[in-house]
Amino acid sequence: MTPRNAPPYPTDRPTPFDPPVELAHYREHEPIRRMRYPDGHTGWLVTSHGLARSILADSRFSARSEFKRPPVSRPGADPFYGAPALPGWLVDMDAPEHTRIRQRLTGKFTARRMREMRPAIERIIENLLDDMERDTPPVDLVESFALPVPSLMICELLGVPYSERKEFQRNSETLFSLEVTADEASAAMDRLYAFLRELATTGGRRDGLLAMLAEDGTLDAEEIAGVGVLLLTAGHESTSSSLALSTFTLLSHPEQLAKLKERPDLVDNAVEELLRYLTVFHFGVPRTPLEDVEVDGHLLRAGESITVSLPAANRDPEWFAQAPDTFDIERRTSGHLAFGYGIHQCLGQNLVRMEMRAALPALFRRFPGLALAVPAEEIPLSTDMSVYGVHRLPVTW
Ligand code: HEM
Repeated sequence: MTPRNAPPYPTDRPTPFDPPVELAHYREHEPIRRMRYPDGHTGWLVTSHGLARSILADSRFSARSEFKRPPVSRPGADPFYGAPALPGWLVDMDAPEHTRIRQRLTGKFTARRMREMRPAIERIIENLLDDMERDTPPVDLVESFALPVPSLMICELLGVPYSERKEFQRNSETLFSLEVTADEASAAMDRLYAFLRELATTGGRRDGLLAMLAEDGTLDAEEIAGVGVLLLTAGHESTSSSLALSTFTLLSHPEQLAKLKERPDLVDNAVEELLRYLTVFHFGVPRTPLEDVEVDGHLLRAGESITVSLPAANRDPEWFAQAPDTFDIERRTSGHLAFGYGIHQCLGQNLVRMEMRAALPALFRRFPGLALAVPAEEIPLSTDMSVYGVHRLPVTW
């Protein structure tokens, strides 16, 4: 294989729950190999758990957005690639800019702070389940549960006042909808920015994250608004996809679901296993070497794009020794890379854990007979979105 005819990032899935088979083949034979990008550039694809961790922990590999290239071509333009980071968008920055912002946020996302939010999340979940129960099945679980849970939780986290939530949710729904034009999505983004800028100035609810950041005084109003939009963007679709896809997975693995119902103490590990097994950041994370670096016998040149495939790393038998392609809520899950690794490891991971640990048992408690309302093959999968999931999940009970 010459670099010019390197294959692209594989995207065809053998089942809704398994990543493309090529990834396993690459991982076994050439865990770092050439990959062709949609813009014609030839970069690199990393598929093993060990190499993924070492690259994501190495500061010679930059996360700056001006160097990033989309690994697969997707409908619509992606505004975040190839341009400098927006104010507050730490995911697209390197140290020391990244450190300055991340330090202001870390304390707001500790496991302890997230536990304090538990009553709010339980209230949100129970209210949504009440509404769902009043509906006549079949209902779309994405629309009635998986989308509103993270959206209302982010309102709670940011401190969006109750009176403003409908408007906030309307704009975020437009931003993430597939049915709107690029212009409509960008208008919704502008409205969200304006709203959060205002909230950053006035502080919003005093116990909210934006108010705390405003009081702290280290970040300016533009950065605080940017952090708000980043949290919304990073946290909304990923969590809603994880909730819907996790429900689909459990319904498709009845023996695992029965075990979870019998042994609620398994929920924490079951959530980790769902995160590992499904790895919704299915196109991986992009990095770029700032200098020439040798990795596993290959010379990676400064400026060449690298895609670190998180789904491939999360099925690596070298790390997950027992049948990594099997969904098993009792397996050892530590070290999974669903949240990335290194300085950019997901800031919202404790929030996600809390949401999933609360939402999934509550859903199956309320609807013990929950079932798919259509054959599994008819569930529309969002294979071309940067976050993998289902577009709709019709369920009955
Ligand atoms: C299941 C849900 C989620 C998954 C699978 C997920 C996954 C990830 C991954 C893989 C990264 C690393 C990106 C990289 O290295 O380039 C990341 C970063 C990040 N995530 Fe999440 N995420 C989830 C939910 C959330 C939520 C709920 C929030 C906040 C409310 C959030 C906020 C962030 C932020 C701010 C970053 C950037 C951190 C940094 O650059 O230091 N994420 N996430």
